Amino acid sequence: MNAIIFDHVSKRYAEAGAPAVDDVSLEIPDGKIVVILGTSGSGKTTLMKMVNRLIELSLGRVIVEGQDVQTLPVNDLRRRIGYVIQHIGLFPHWTVAQNIATVPTILGWEARRVQQRVEELMDLVGLTPAEYRGRYPAQLSGGQQQRVGIARALAADPDILLMDEPFGAVDAITRSRLQEEFLALQQRTHKTVLFVTHDVEEALQLADKLVIMDRGRVIQYDSSFNIITQPANDFVAQLIGARHLMRLLRLVTVRNIVQPLQPATAAQADDTLSLDDSMSDALTRLLRSACDALPVADAAGALVGQADLAAVRAHLRRSDSLAR
Ligand SMILES: Nc1ncnc2c1ncn2[C@@H]1O[C@H](COP(=O)(O)OP(=O)(O)O)[C@@H](O)[C@H]1O
Ligand SMILES: [Mg+2]
Repeated sequence: MNAIIFDHVSKRYAEAGAPAVDDVSLEIPDGKIVVILGTSGSGKTTLMKMVNRLIELSLGRVIVEGQDVQTLPVNDLRRRIGYVIQHIGLFPHWTVAQNIATVPTILGWEARRVQQRVEELMDLVGLTPAEYRGRYPAQLSGGQQQRVGIARALAADPDILLMDEPFGAVDAITRSRLQEEFLALQQRTHKTVLFVTHDVEEALQLADKLVIMDRGRVIQYDSSFNIITQPANDFVAQLIGARHLMRLLRLVTVRNIVQPLQPATAAQADDTLSLDDSMSDALTRLLRSACDALPVADAAGALVGQADLAAVRAHLRRSDSLAR
């Protein structure tokens, strides 16, 4: 099932001039993090805002959970979609608890239910309710403000989260911690997340699938692995860059380089690799081993093949030349 479908969607801000979003078709699967990566001005924000109709599209259709967004009352639509942006826009004269409770309050939830939900969400995003509930936004760090923003977006339990450079305004250390926590949060909540960034590292860190945009068009839509190893064109290759080879080694598993098992390998083995071991792991253990090749076992422990350094090198060379 696809949570969001873009069907030949275009947006032109002015009659003249190039479209900001140009004939985009994409299917965003349920429960996955899809990251839109592109340079500034490539149309990422415009594309995202057409989902919750902060921007009206010029051509095409956007389908959310099976319904054309044009046919839905805008308030119903937005209630089903959480929205987190860089400058989160917390209400300065409201406490953390009041900010998080915005949507449940509008929806007329009972006070007790609102309070329970606020505490649950504060726990979820790592803010101790007793300590932070009564603070005002100005009494929080940038990272804490982003956490409140995420809690507020999750308050009415939307199935879909739109996140537009949500960690763009915090320092690098806070940012990587927020990224890790966000991934852990996602493992518990299984939202469909459409996440916009211009930061390649962040995109690779978070994405189940990656959309590469350039001048309003989708250039490539695939897994990080496939985009690193098989960039669609020079633009993507340059954007992603060969510096991600080490990351690639961690993404690729032994499964990709397994060869038929030779009896001699099984007989001499001083170690056994698993199909799901990463290539960086396999590389380390092959270098440490006294053998030229190591047997490979499946999850049940049965030997299914072997791997050797030549296969790792061949795989790397192939990826490297493609990623350049
Ligand atoms: N409200 C607007 N009116 C006119 N042009 C706009 C407006 N918003 C964005 N644009 C233009 O549309 C293009 C895409 O912008 P945007 O979607 O914000 O890109 P990104 O989020 O990738 O930086 C840019 O050329 C930008 O100048
Ligand atoms: Mg933007």
